[in-house]
Formats: sequence, structure tokens, C-alpha cells
Amino acid sequence: MKDFIIKGCFLDSESPEKLRIVEAGYLPVVGGVCRGIFPVIPEQFQPLPVTDCGDKLILPGMSDLHVHAPQFAFRGLGMDMELLDWLNSYTFPEEAKYSDPAYAEKAYAGFVDSLVHSTTTRAAIFATVHPAATLGLMAQLEQSGLRSYVGKVNMDRNCPDTVREPDAKTAVRETERWICDAGSRFHHTKPILTPRFIPTCSDALMAGLKDLQRKYSLPVQSHLSENFGEIAWVRELSPASGCYGEAYQRFGLFGGDHPCIMAHCVHSTDRELELIRQNGVFIAHSPESNMNLASGVAPVSRYLELGLNVGLATDVAGGSSLSLLRAMMHAIQASKLRWRLLDDSIRPLSLEQAFYLATVGGGAFFGKVGRFAEGYDFDAVVLDDSSLFHPQPLDPRSRLERAVYLADDRHIAAKYVAGKKIF
Ligand code: GUN
Ligand code: FE
Repeated sequence: MKDFIIKGCFLDSESPEKLRIVEAGYLPVVGGVCRGIFPVIPEQFQPLPVTDCGDKLILPGMSDLHVHAPQFAFRGLGMDMELLDWLNSYTFPEEAKYSDPAYAEKAYAGFVDSLVHSTTTRAAIFATVHPAATLGLMAQLEQSGLRSYVGKVNMDRNCPDTVREPDAKTAVRETERWICDAGSRFHHTKPILTPRFIPTCSDALMAGLKDLQRKYSLPVQSHLSENFGEIAWVRELSPASGCYGEAYQRFGLFGGDHPCIMAHCVHSTDRELELIRQNGVFIAHSPESNMNLASGVAPVSRYLELGLNVGLATDVAGGSSLSLLRAMMHAIQASKLRWRLLDDSIRPLSLEQAFYLATVGGGAFFGKVGRFAEGYDFDAVVLDDSSLFHPQPLDPRSRLERAVYLADDRHIAAKYVAGKKIF
């Protein structure tokens, strides 16, 4: 990997409330890692070549904490139902198609190409129950230069035969084989255990997945407290659990001894939030999905105040777009409606907070990712906003705000992941 210096107008988060802005700064990247931002090039870095981005904005790469690769094929369609009907009417029929590796390869190529050309550099991705198609997706992601966790989905009950694993034993055996195949083939595309959600996973399956979690030290991702119908169903299925989160915790699949992402947490109770805090679970906030599926709006600024791990997510195809710039906008807008209409004690998100969630909040799941501080991986997007007409010069914060509200992947001039330029 080549070392270099990149020059431009840098923005990153100092804290959820505060941006750091460095105009005309020089950032040396050594071994893929940031070495600080300087007004002039320090002597020790002077031999390095300089990539001069002029006045372009350089932002940290963003992390999508929850996205369904197979659902990219029907993004922007089927927005007329709530979660459980939506899964049965649109999602499961589409996911069934990934039993055909040729279909999967073609559909996943569209997903990966769109992800490459977005502001996302890291992602936690759901595939389907099919091992071959999931390995194919992982091969494409590895090739792309992005860094990701990918889950072969597990489900063995309460779903159509076409997407149901025959029984818990077979599901666990196939999942173990997939983990070993993926581990031997990929470096930057890692397996993550993915019980879809409690309604589709039997107790025997959950127990088997915990054995795999221990044996291979794997992280876990799933869905939590998204929709009222779903939550009521989990209460019936797992009556001994004091909250939905406990239905995972019972099996040791709710963080604590492993990294864990739970998508949504729209309706989490105080008891559930305490469990999330104790176990360091990451909340993946998907504001567009919450709106499209009429799930509600997660009180995300409260989660920040409580010091929980929170990041942003597109949840395609609950969300229609892979753009985390759009997710930032939707997070701000949804939080304003929540504040106005539901609960004025929870303040709307600021631009600074939304930017923090998209960069630092989600990046923390992947290591030292999401800011340009010394020692962090150099994940970055270079934004050329010069084609966005404005009669007067704008300061960098205003340029960021406009990039969020007028989100357009065509403004991305270059993208780096861990110091490697991927375009
Ligand atoms: N809960 C279980 N599966 C899904 C899914 O595919 N999307 C969303 N948004 N929620 C889910
Ligand atoms: Fe989801």
C-alpha cells in the first residue's frame, strides 16, 4: 500500500455536538492510517506524494450498520404495508430467488456497484439463507475494496418453505460450513451471525448459533423492537422474556461477550435500553425504513444522551436508497416530526449529531473508523460540490449541510477505504 498526503477541506466530528473543520489541511496517510491534519507538511512526511483536492470537501467514510443486499432489487417498491405483511408480500418472494446463483450474481452486482459509488465505506449486511449466493456476494464485496460484515440469514420457522431452512440442525451445519468457507477466502469481508429475528428462529436454532458464536468468536446482527405487531408476536413466542431484547439475551446472542448490532429499536422499553447499555449493543437507526414501513421513529437523540452505541443504517429495502447522506437528512427530519407531534422532551437531531451517527457512531463497530484523528483508518469520501450553484461562497459547514440535503452520489469525486483509493 502506498503512503501519501491528501490536501483539502476536512470535516469530521469532535463529538456528537461539534464538527472539526480544517480548511487547506494536509493529512498524511501512512500504512492506511491517518497521522493527523496539519496546516503545513511536517518535515518527516515531506517525501510523500501529495494528492491535492483543492477546495473539495473531504469527509470520513460512512458506515451503514444495517442493509439487506438482496432487497436492493425491489428498493423503492412496495411501500404500502407494515413490516409483517411487507415481509410476506415482497421480501420473502424476492429473497427466495437467491437460491439461483446466476440470479444472485446479477442482482448482487447492482447492489455492490451502487454501494461502491455511495459515501459508505463499511457496512453490516444481511444476505439470504442461501450459502452459495452469500459467498458470491462476499466475493464481489471483497473485490470492491469496501470492508464489511456479511450474514447468511438464518430462519427455520414462520416463513414460506422457499426461504425456510429445513430444521435447526441443518441450518447450523450449513452456517458453519459457510463460516469456514468465508474465513478461508476473504480478508475484508467477514461473516456475522444473522438470526433474522425472533419470529423466524426456533430455540434450537438460537442455541446452535450461540455455539457457533463461541466457537468462531463471531459478531451478531438482528432486528429489535421495530413494529408493534412484531413486538406483540415476540411476546407470545417468548413469554418468559421481560422485553424483546431478553429473547436474544436468553441465548447469549445480545452482545456482552461479542459485538452485536440490533436494527431499529423504535419502541424499546427502559428495561430493554438498560440491557442494550449493559451489553454494549449497537443500535442501527434506519429513519427512512421507520417511515416507509410506518414503524414509528426511534428516539435517537435520547439514545445519544444515554451514551448508547448508535449508528445510521439504510435498511434497504425498508429504506429506498443506499445513501447515508439521505439517511442523515431523514434522521433529522423524522426527529423533528417526533419532537413536534409526539414528545417535545426529546430534542430533534442536529446536523452535527446526524453526521456523528453516520461516521463515528457506526464506524466504532468496525474499529478506529469514522474520523481523521491520528491512528484512525483513512476512510474518506472527496465531495465535489462545485456544480451546485450558489451565488455567494459558503462556509464548510453550510457546504456539508447542503451536501446532505441535496445528496447526490455523482458529487463523490474519490473514495478511500483504509488508505486504498477504490475510485
Ligand atoms: N425484520 C425481520 N426481517 C426484516 C427485514 O428484512 N427488514 C426489516 N426492516 N425488518 C425486518
Ligand atoms: Fe432490516
